[in-house]
Amino acid sequence: MIATAALLLLAATSTPDASLGLSKTGVFDVPAPPAVRAEDSSPGEKPAPPRAYPGAPPAIPHGIADFLPITRTQNLCLDCHAVKEKKPGEATPIPASHYRDLRRAPGAPRGRIAGARHVCTACHATRSDAAPLAGSTFGR
Ligand code: HEC
Ligand code: HEC
Repeated sequence: MIATAALLLLAATSTPDASLGLSKTGVFDVPAPPAVRAEDSSPGEKPAPPRAYPGAPPAIPHGIADFLPITRTQNLCLDCHAVKEKKPGEATPIPASHYRDLRRAPGAPRGRIAGARHVCTACHATRSDAAPLAGSTFGR
């Protein structure tokens, strides 16, 4: 009897499943996510977007479909970005931090990219025209 009353109370106050989570559908629906278009501009076509916060890895302002995958023996990002100085309209040089093994020998610059930096896309993300799922009050 008490259990039934508790259930009735729960049913009266419970939240409808369609208002749970970010996808406003019922748990038995299979919603199709809205189609998004990945950034497909050529390098240099669009200006670099502002950083999310100081020290954040900058977002990639150009398409990268032609430059992936990054494998042990192939990294096309280096072809453009492993340059010494910035020339107008060309790739931003990879910063000095990426040429150091910050874990084992932080004081010693190396002639090549540190292993931990090889897979650029682990930290640098491309963009798409997807709308944010939730608002953010995170300030710069
Ligand atoms: C064909 C040459 C080329 C290739 C290949 C290339 N890039 Fe770029 N990249 C550029 C140019 C040009 C810019 C724009 C530079 C600028 O705005 O100063 C750029 C900008 C960037 C930036 C923004 C830098 C900043 O300061 O905000 C990032 C991050 C980046 N690229 C990462 C990558 C990654 C990761 C790859 C591989 C998946 C890659 N790029 C492949 C040429 C290239
Ligand atoms: C472990 C995370 C990580 C990986 C992997 C990584 N980066 Fe970065 N990158 C960062 C962070 C954090 C910054 C910003 C701070 C800094 O300048 O060191 C940055 C900055 C940059 C910049 C901007 C430099 C400037 O002067 O504005 C370029 C270009 C860049 N990275 C290219 C690359 C490329 C190309 C690769 C792959 C070979 C790569 N990064 C791999 C974290 C990473």
